[in-house]
Amino acid sequence: MPKLKIILAPDPRLKRVCMSVNSVGEKTRQLMDDMLETMYAAPGIGLSAPQVGADIRVIVTDVAREGEDPRPYKMADPYILEAADNAVKYEEGCLSFPDQYSDVARPEWVRVAYLDEHSVLRELRAEGLLATCLQHEIDHLDGLLFVDHLTSLKRNMILRKMKKTKRQLQAETVA
Ligand code: NI
Repeated sequence: MPKLKIILAPDPRLKRVCMSVNSVGEKTRQLMDDMLETMYAAPGIGLSAPQVGADIRVIVTDVAREGEDPRPYKMADPYILEAADNAVKYEEGCLSFPDQYSDVARPEWVRVAYLDEHSVLRELRAEGLLATCLQHEIDHLDGLLFVDHLTSLKRNMILRKMKKTKRQLQAETVA
């Protein structure tokens, strides 16, 4: 299975509002598997379809630590039904922002509805790292990036670094 190419920020494809899947078929199932493989290889704990160039509402996550059994989630049309009133801070990163990290405050737990890889409607109550990860990935489906939760000063600093990184990568490709 070919690994997918992860789009680096800033990129207009990361700012789109993605389309609903409505029913998970073979093509979406294959995308979920390819995304999961790409995420594990990166390595990362979450990945959204727009990060690999597909503007549909699909995310994958696995927050299991090294040595633990894998706990993959493949979700289509994930939707936050309910969120905690109180927020907690986690240091977040993103596969579209290599080497960039910053604290982001989000609700401590969320209740999420989604379609699984067999198009079965499921519900999940997540807390801790999984809650943060799900909110981060669901944000991607609306063109929202973790830097959009930061002050404009911090956001611009990270985006400037990313532009420089992308220029360097392009120069290496040409050379
Ligand atoms: Ni991300």
